[in-house]
Amino acid sequence: MSPLVSDLHLYDIANVKGVAADISHCNTPSQVRDFTGAAELANCLKGVDVVVIPAGVPRKPGMTRDDLFNINAGIVRDLVSAVADNCPGAFIHIISNPVNSTVPIAAEVLKQKGVYDPKKLFGVTTLDVVRANTFVAQRKNLKLIDVDVPVVGGHAGITILPLLSKTKPSASFTGEEIEELTVRIQNAGTEVVEAKAGAGSATLSMAYAAARFVESSLRALDGDGDVYECSFVQSDVKLGRKGVEALIPSDLQGLTEYEQKALEALKPELKASIEKGIAFAQKQT
Ligand code: LMR
Repeated sequence: MSPLVSDLHLYDIANVKGVAADISHCNTPSQVRDFTGAAELANCLKGVDVVVIPAGVPRKPGMTRDDLFNINAGIVRDLVSAVADNCPGAFIHIISNPVNSTVPIAAEVLKQKGVYDPKKLFGVTTLDVVRANTFVAQRKNLKLIDVDVPVVGGHAGITILPLLSKTKPSASFTGEEIEELTVRIQNAGTEVVEAKAGAGSATLSMAYAAARFVESSLRALDGDGDVYECSFVQSDVKLGRKGVEALIPSDLQGLTEYEQKALEALKPELKASIEKGIAFAQKQT
C-alpha cells in the first residue's frame, strides 16, 4: 500500500507465482514480479534498494530461536551472498532467526565480498517495539498511537531490552509493572509460538512490523531526515586504553538501575550469539 514502493520483487524456492498473482491485484501503483529458485535470484535482486529477508524455518514450542541456527544460518548466508553480488548498495533487513547470529553472518559475508556497509545492514527488531508499545498502552491505559517505547539489545529472550523509562509520552511504572512488562515483551515471540502449538511463529504481527520498518527505510531513502527506528545494528563504540569502553548511542544514556543491570546481563549472551554467527561465516571460506 505504500506509495514509496515502485516495484515489488518476490523470491522463494517455490510457490511464488500464486503469491505474486494474488498481491498484484491490489490497486496500488507498484509492479509485482515473481522469481523462483536460485537461477532467478540474481534477476530478482538487480537494481533493488531494499532487500527484506524473512526466509527460513520457524520455531516450534520448546525451541529457542538459536535452535534454528543450523538451518537458517546457511539460508541467510546464501541469500546475502547474492545480495552482495547483485545489489551491494541496498539496505538489507534481516528477519530470519536467530537474528542475533544471522545479522553477524550477513556482515561477515558482505565483508568477504568487500561490500560491507554497517550503516545498511539491519536486524529487524521492530516487532519488539510494536509489542512494547501495545503492552505498555494496555497496561497504562494510554492512547496507543502516541506510545513509543525504545527497545535495545538483540532479538531473543533477555537480549531484548525495552527501555520503559524512556517511554513516550512519559509514564511512571511500579517496580512490579517494570518486571512484568519487561518479561512479557521478552517472551512475546514465545507466547505466539505456544499459541500456534507447532504451526509456526508470529507471521502477521511480524509482517506488520516489517512493513513499518520498510516504510521507514523508504522514507529515509526518499530524503525524510526525521525517521527514527530501533534496530539490531553494529554500534559505534567508545574506545579507551583497554579497548572498548562504552556503547554510546544516546538511548543508552541515563538508564535506570534496573535497565543498566539488564543491559549488563544481556551482553554475554548477545556476544556469544554474535561470535557464533561470525565463526559460522568464517568457517565457510
Ligand atoms: C518473534 O519475535 O515473534 C519472532 O522472532 C519469531 C519467534 O520465533 O519468536
